[in-house]
Amino acid sequence: MSDEPLILGIESTCDETGVALVRGTELLVDRTATSMDQYARYGGIIPEIASRAHLESFLPTLDSALAEAGVGLDQVDAVAVSAGPGLVGSLTVGICAAKALATGLDLPLYGVNHVIGHLAVDKVAEGPLPRRFIGLVVSGGHSNILLVEDIATDVRELGGTLDDAAGEAFDKVGRLLDLPYPGGPHVDRLSQQGDVDAIRFPRGLAAGKDKERHKYDFSFSGLKTAVARYVEGVQERGESFSPEDICAGFSESVNDSLTAKAVRAARDTDCDTIVIGGGFSANSRLRALITERAYAAGLTVRMPPLRFCTDNGAQIAAIGSELVRAGLPPSDWDFSPDSGMPLTQTYMAPAVSSALAS
Ligand code: KG4
Ligand code: ZN
Repeated sequence: MSDEPLILGIESTCDETGVALVRGTELLVDRTATSMDQYARYGGIIPEIASRAHLESFLPTLDSALAEAGVGLDQVDAVAVSAGPGLVGSLTVGICAAKALATGLDLPLYGVNHVIGHLAVDKVAEGPLPRRFIGLVVSGGHSNILLVEDIATDVRELGGTLDDAAGEAFDKVGRLLDLPYPGGPHVDRLSQQGDVDAIRFPRGLAAGKDKERHKYDFSFSGLKTAVARYVEGVQERGESFSPEDICAGFSESVNDSLTAKAVRAARDTDCDTIVIGGGFSANSRLRALITERAYAAGLTVRMPPLRFCTDNGAQIAAIGSELVRAGLPPSDWDFSPDSGMPLTQTYMAPAVSSALAS
């Protein structure tokens, strides 16, 4: 393993500044600084504050990562940086830093898709990933089912959300229930104390024509409205409601859809493994239900430990190391951040002319 290249991963998609070093499946260090505590009073991330925080945090995070690993920059073999999807201002800070480092050290630079990194990071926790698998990426911005034929070169999108992402829906229900921002982890916590059978909320795209037409798609905005109507109705009648029961019923609806469709995708494509990733993969009910349903279907399920669920440098170094291992040419120097980077694009591949020259 020690002869594999050492990859420096840099993450600055949203509010986390992450720096990590990965060699093969070995994680040498993973350091993260976050500006999340600055957003509680706004109820959402302020991109300008996030960009400035990256600027302030990057060098201290890099220095402490190198010190902890006992590694000098001269030992690094390639640099990987998140190129999207995410906030353009935040991504720009990480990309500029990565370009400066790679130019100064004369190293290959890979601008990678951070969402694919959410799946790749599992290899540093549980060992090499299978070549083919179903990826369920769930975060504040994404809820997608991916068919991964090869994590470096061939990722296909089977479906995704038609409206809100799972994390976004949790954050909105958190706001509705006056929970602190981001609401996701709080709704998760309350849901564990509630009665899952007390309130049955609808499942999006689960019946009639929608069920077949949107086999691998999700819709959570109707569910969110159903929760709002339920709360309004109870308040109008002057009754009190149980936030725990609401969270339990709501969480069950979201996770029922996510897990049923992921298992169906694995069956339909003959994949024997489901890998989940993204901030929402920390959700306790998702982890329990996918484990239960995958087991019943004879599938293996892999999910990153909680510390690798939200954005981190390890996921960027992990996908970077897969690109290097596949022998792919580095990105061109002039690539830009892409806030809407397609999930089928694993990295910023060079233009044909420079690929041929290398
Ligand atoms: O991947 P991530 O860090 O950033 C994005 O790319 O969006 O995911 C953040 C999202 C937020 O919506 C947050 O509320 C949600 O993940 N989240 C959770 C939990 N932990 C984080 N949602 C539900 N249950 C959790 N335990
Ligand atoms: Zn993410």
